[in-house]
Amino acid sequence: METPPVGFYERTEAEPFKRLRRLRMTEAFRSMVRETELSRKDFIYPLFVVPGEKIRHEVKSMPGVFQLSVDQLVRECTEVKTLGIPAVILFGIPEEKDEVGSGAYDEHGIVQTAIRTIKKEIPELVVITDVCLCEYTSHGHCGIVRGNEILNDVSIELLAKEALTHAQAGADIVAPSDMFDGRIQAIRHTLDENDFRNTPIMSYAAKYASGFYGPFRDAAESTPKFGDRRSHQMDPANSNEALREVEVDILEGADIVMVKPALSYLDIIRRVKDRFGMPTAAYNVSGEYSMIKAAGRNGWIDEQRVMMETLTSMKRAGADLILTYFAKEAARLLR
Ligand code: PBG
Repeated sequence: METPPVGFYERTEAEPFKRLRRLRMTEAFRSMVRETELSRKDFIYPLFVVPGEKIRHEVKSMPGVFQLSVDQLVRECTEVKTLGIPAVILFGIPEEKDEVGSGAYDEHGIVQTAIRTIKKEIPELVVITDVCLCEYTSHGHCGIVRGNEILNDVSIELLAKEALTHAQAGADIVAPSDMFDGRIQAIRHTLDENDFRNTPIMSYAAKYASGFYGPFRDAAESTPKFGDRRSHQMDPANSNEALREVEVDILEGADIVMVKPALSYLDIIRRVKDRFGMPTAAYNVSGEYSMIKAAGRNGWIDEQRVMMETLTSMKRAGADLILTYFAKEAARLLR
């Protein structure tokens, strides 16, 4: 924190108190001294892709968010591009799920197909892919399960395989969201070995075991059939541990580090940004979106205003990039 100039808090007879309101009196003044400016370039728009054609299925708990077939996805991406949003992140829902999440690393899988189509139609749009198994496994866990245990070392090999198929299909950035140990190293190694040395990794580095993912699991059909994600995602009570997680991921080769969720973890975003100075992303997750939508629809809050206020708070906390379901709406306001 910057300290105020010497004498700032001194009172004199001529100025018995400071008039901090002076610079708030007009919008012109306010905008001249504004410290944080949101930009459309900050946004990454999450998209859910499903098999089939002409499918546009609204997610019940996320008004305005749809499961889209590839043809519809391309239309959506065109709109995203036109709005000045530079990037999307793709989540896939496969035709069939199995114990080992085969759909995740199938070169003709749903996400791989979607990437190829988008990169062909809209090559300038940055395509990021979520790398995880939870949408592809029958049990809904992020890795291979034995009994009640979610296995680490075999799972990261599959994640590396998944990331490679995404890169081969043309993904610009891969984003592992599992929180297993050693996954960034495994993915970096596999990408490098296959000549994808210049494909960046955006790591979900400090990802908490959060109740705010509820609506996403409706959208991605990835709710675990038993147990939960607490053996790999972080305890919401911890902050120092987040720095350890982020540091390990940077050492293993992460190019962008993410904090997730965003709104209840603004302190973590700030610490991560201050400590490492890395390109830092914040995931404004599904539950954060749905709460604002619900309250807005009930007339309890001014939805647009609260949307912009929360997005600004994430940037103010230190986020360079914000993954948000609000991207299109916010971009329209910023135009
Ligand atoms: C896992 C993944 C999740 C989200 C993004 N990637 C869900 C989870 O960990 O259960 C949540 C995003 C959101 O809530 O918007 N592949």
